[in-house]
Amino acid sequence: MRLKHLKLSNYRNCKNLEINFDRTKILIIGKNAQGKTNILESIYFLSSLKSLRTSTSTDLINFDSDYFKLEAGIYKSDTDIDLYYAYNREKKREIKVNKVKSTIKDFKSVVKTVLFSSGDLMLLRGAPQDRRDWLDLAISQIYPAYDERLSKYDKIRIQKNNFLKECAKNGTMNDALLDVFNEQLSVTGSNIIYIRKKFLKEIEKLAKEKHRTISETEELSIKYDCSFLGTNNEIEEIEQIQYAFLEALDERRTEEIRRVQSCVGPHRDDIIFYINNQEAVKFASQGQQRTVVLALKLSELDIITDKTGDEPILLLDDVLAELDDIRQNYLLKSINDKTQTIITSVDTILFEDEFLKDVEIHKIENGHIYQN
Ligand SMILES: Nc1ncnc2c1ncn2[C@@H]1O[C@H](COP(=O)(O)OP(=O)(O)OP(=O)(O)O)[C@@H](O)[C@H]1O
Ligand SMILES: [Mg+2]
Repeated sequence: MRLKHLKLSNYRNCKNLEINFDRTKILIIGKNAQGKTNILESIYFLSSLKSLRTSTSTDLINFDSDYFKLEAGIYKSDTDIDLYYAYNREKKREIKVNKVKSTIKDFKSVVKTVLFSSGDLMLLRGAPQDRRDWLDLAISQIYPAYDERLSKYDKIRIQKNNFLKECAKNGTMNDALLDVFNEQLSVTGSNIIYIRKKFLKEIEKLAKEKHRTISETEELSIKYDCSFLGTNNEIEEIEQIQYAFLEALDERRTEEIRRVQSCVGPHRDDIIFYINNQEAVKFASQGQQRTVVLALKLSELDIITDKTGDEPILLLDDVLAELDDIRQNYLLKSINDKTQTIITSVDTILFEDEFLKDVEIHKIENGHIYQN
């Protein structure tokens, strides 16, 4: 897959920005606060309809405007595809694929991206929510239906929380209705956990190998830390997960009523990384943690390619400056010629002449692009 053309109108500080991408390796160079991350964010947005830094799409609209527009030309499976996304301050959006009105699901299925930013290097140290978001986005790029399951689970959980709030306010409880919510949560929730566990096993296999190559001797392992499986964490079968989930919901019923919230389930789960069987977040150095993230991101790229038959676009936001020579080299050498890679950096100085030979360079200043 290749992004051939991108046009941003009133998107953050890019009021009117147009770029044609001709090669597979692209460098976007600019000083701080010129719009480098904004460009990558807009490409990431095309694949996820999510922003990197905000959950409110109106934040993406240029301060002086009432709307933003994204237009992109994609080349995929020997076909050209046009994408159009417009959004205004009234929260109305217009989505088109090949000039025809499209659903969110169809729109999102066109572009796949793997984004690696300097912030991701903190994935291990960040909040459990960051690790769940990373995992969920990676999975939903492979299985679009997964997104729907997540939304369904969230919807039921919010309904249950509202119901608990209502009961607390009135000093009542409807046990039969709470059972219905718990049953529904256990069906959707166990499905989510089942898929997450399966995906983590696959990514662990690939990441282990990459991690060993970079670190030479160290052994990476990854565990899905389920909020209710405890010592039964090895359980893989969906029925058993659902059974354990229902049991946990029963056990914590009084606590949930008292705290007026859902205390167990996939929204409380986490992912734990180990290096040589020691928990990375507790014992590993910053460099060791970065190696884990690097191995993960490159494995994600491989999995998406393998499962969808199409290479995602790799977006590297300022990440090279944060890696040492060995890791930089590993990253740049692992990117094959077919993977379109868009890299932002403040300077070309970090890159070897050999690498720069094949690269297309764009300069950005105050939201405007100047081709070299
Ligand atoms: N909605 C918006 N309207 C106008 N400008 C915005 C909006 N949102 C963000 N900006 C501005 O866009 C500018 C560029 O941001 P961006 O994060 O892309 O910079 P960058 O080139 O990646 O810089 P750095 O090297 O520091 O990471 C910032 O100055 C920011 O204030
Ligand atoms: Mg930036």
